[in-house]
Amino acid sequence: MTERNENIVIFPFMAQGHIIAFLGLALQIEQRGYNIIFVNTPINIKKLQQSLPPTSSIRLLEIPFNNSEDDDLPPGVENTDVLPPNLIVNLIKAYVSLKPSFRQLISNLTTDCGGNPPLCIVADIFFGWLAEIAHEFGVFHSIFSCSGAFGLACYYSLWMNLPHLNSNSAAEFSFPDFPESGRFHTTQLAANMLVADGNNPPSVFHRKNLPAWSNSDELLFNSVEELDMIGLAYFRSKLGRLVCPLGPILLPPGK
Ligand SMILES: *[C@@H]1O[C@H](CO)[C@@H](O)[C@H](O)[C@H]1NC(C)=O
Ligand SMILES: *[C@@H]1O[C@H](CO)[C@@H](O)[C@H](O)[C@H]1NC(C)=O
Repeated sequence: MTERNENIVIFPFMAQGHIIAFLGLALQIEQRGYNIIFVNTPINIKKLQQSLPPTSSIRLLEIPFNNSEDDDLPPGVENTDVLPPNLIVNLIKAYVSLKPSFRQLISNLTTDCGGNPPLCIVADIFFGWLAEIAHEFGVFHSIFSCSGAFGLACYYSLWMNLPHLNSNSAAEFSFPDFPESGRFHTTQLAANMLVADGNNPPSVFHRKNLPAWSNSDELLFNSVEELDMIGLAYFRSKLGRLVCPLGPILLPPGK
């Protein structure tokens, strides 16, 4: 019998809040005896090397990233550190070009392990497209949300339904498929959400990416609040997938 592949591949979007939560998750899974492979683009892998505790055996693997002029990004940008907020969606979109390299990486990891694919791929909420590759190799695919389920349910419903466009004269609105979340005021929306009209680039991207979550096997939430329970229920009925609260995922002190 060939040895079981105990690799878990983790692929976060490189923005501050995401990285911290994904590293915390990786360190917790590592403690349970799995091999963690953290995948990212070259500049980000260098940054991650500095964030790992010296005792960690997490492997960092690089995939090449060419952002091109078509992406409308400053050259050489691979993370949100120096990116103005209005360009973040361009970076998220440019990551889709990593698809062939990511497929190759999973193929390599499978070959290296005698034809056994990794156990699981845990990806960022922005990488709905990864589920297709995972399933091509018969790998379980999880999406990990660094925020709680309540906030993410509002986020999901906002992009899908754009309820702010129908706000009343007092500029209030509620989510048509998530009424239990209560009423909101347009001033509570981030600038990029306020201008979302269904046709601008962020709207187009999110309205394609969010429904793709239903291709995943599981959604994991960094959830702790009681309020998150209704967010978990929202995703269970919306996506018909396993939805699990994990939180709180914290990095060990000093990291
Ligand atoms: C990156 O760009 C170079 C030059 O345009 C090209 O030769 C190479 O194939 C590209 N790599 C990937 C991974 O797309
Ligand atoms: C896959 O393995 C080949 C052969 O070892 C190597 O050249 C290539 O860079 C690897 N690709 C990825 C994305 O890891």
